[in-house]
Formats: sequence, structure tokens, C-alpha cells
Amino acid sequence: MIIAIDGPAASGKGTLARRLAAHYGLGHLDTGLTYRAVAAALLASGASLDDEAAAVAAAERLDLSALDRETLSAHAVGEAASRVAVMPALRAALVRVQRAFAETPPGAVLDGRDVGTVICPDAPVKLFVTASAETRARRRADELAGRGEPADVAAILADLVRRDARDAERAASPMRPADDAVLLDTTAMTADDAFAAACGIIDRVIR
Ligand code: CDP
Repeated sequence: MIIAIDGPAASGKGTLARRLAAHYGLGHLDTGLTYRAVAAALLASGASLDDEAAAVAAAERLDLSALDRETLSAHAVGEAASRVAVMPALRAALVRVQRAFAETPPGAVLDGRDVGTVICPDAPVKLFVTASAETRARRRADELAGRGEPADVAAILADLVRRDARDAERAASPMRPADDAVLLDTTAMTADDAFAAACGIIDRVIR
């Protein structure tokens, strides 16, 4: 069983993926963290963010079990992640690891930008989770405020829009809904609403 969840920044896909994995007894991989970890490694070593060989080397050293959103949550790391994510050789290296995780029994929920289109094109369940840019910026600001970090909604909104454009317009595996993905717009939904809607979709597929 593989559940593919894609969508733009701060759409709620991470929270949803975590809850679905617990509910259906599946593994969970936040594929954004794999890009964040590579970006953080490049930033720490002083390598350039377009050094593809250094990025691939960092990907090959990646330990999925050690990925932690808390330590990779910095805004600058997310920004750097979307810059390294344009490199095809890095994407190929990460997709190998992500796919191996997905195919490990009993299966998994993966969330990201290209799960349904590239990593797991045969996944029986594909969701594309969206929300208006304003809603997403507010959610991200609340998240930051919750961690005691400064949160300027207007600046966050501008960053999200720029990052979405970079992710959707890149040549390698651009963010887009798979043809067979179900769209879930969470603008007017709570996290509980989104979870219930997703379970409804998944239970229909399982039956
Ligand atoms: O949590 P947030 O939505 O801010 O971003 P993330 O999921 O941590 O992903 C960070 C960046 O990694 C994204 O902006 C994408 O550029 C890239 N990414 C990707 O290209 N493909 C994926 N499957 C997941 C993330």
C-alpha cells in the first residue's frame, strides 16, 4: 500500500501524511526533508548550492531514519532546498532512496512535490493537497510563532509564492498533480476535516 501526497509549501500535506501513516499502520517519509537535509549539508560545508556532485554525495550519505523536521525547519534551509531541488542528478539519487522506502512492506505514505508523478507513479492512492496562498502563509506564520520565531505574514506569503513558482516551473520533475490524483483543497478545512476527507477517499480505494 502506497499513499502519495503532493502539494505546495504549507498546504497541510505533512500533518495529513503523518496522521494517515499512523491510522493505516504504514511508514511515513516526508520527502521534503531529504531535499532539506542535502541543502543543510551543502550550507554547512560551504559548498555552492548548485554544486551537483557535492549534492549527490550528500544524498548518498543520507540516513532516512535520522531525518528530523525540527532540526531542518529553518526558513533558509527550505529556501536552499528548493534551489538544490532543480538539479536532475540530485533528484535521481534521492528518488532511488525514496522509492526503496516506499516499496518496503507494509508500504508507506510519502509526501512531497513529485510523489504521484515520479517517485511512485503506480501508487493506488494519490492526493494533491492545496490551499490558498494566504491561508498557507498564515499557517506557516502560526507554526513559526509557535516556535517563538519571528513571523511576518506578508514576507512569508511572498516567499511561498516565489518558492511555488520555482517548484512548479523547474524542468526536472516540476510540482504538479498526477493525472489520477484527487485534489484536496484545505483552505476552509481544519486538519481534522482534511484527515476525514482523505480517509474517505482512501477507504473507497481500499474497498
Ligand atoms: O515544508 P515545505 O512545504 O516548506 O517544504 P518541504 O516539503 O520541506 O520541501 C522543501 C523543498 O524541497 C520544496 O520547495 C521543493 O523544492 C523540494 N522538494 C522537491 O523538489 N520534491 C519533493 N518531493 C519534496 C520537496
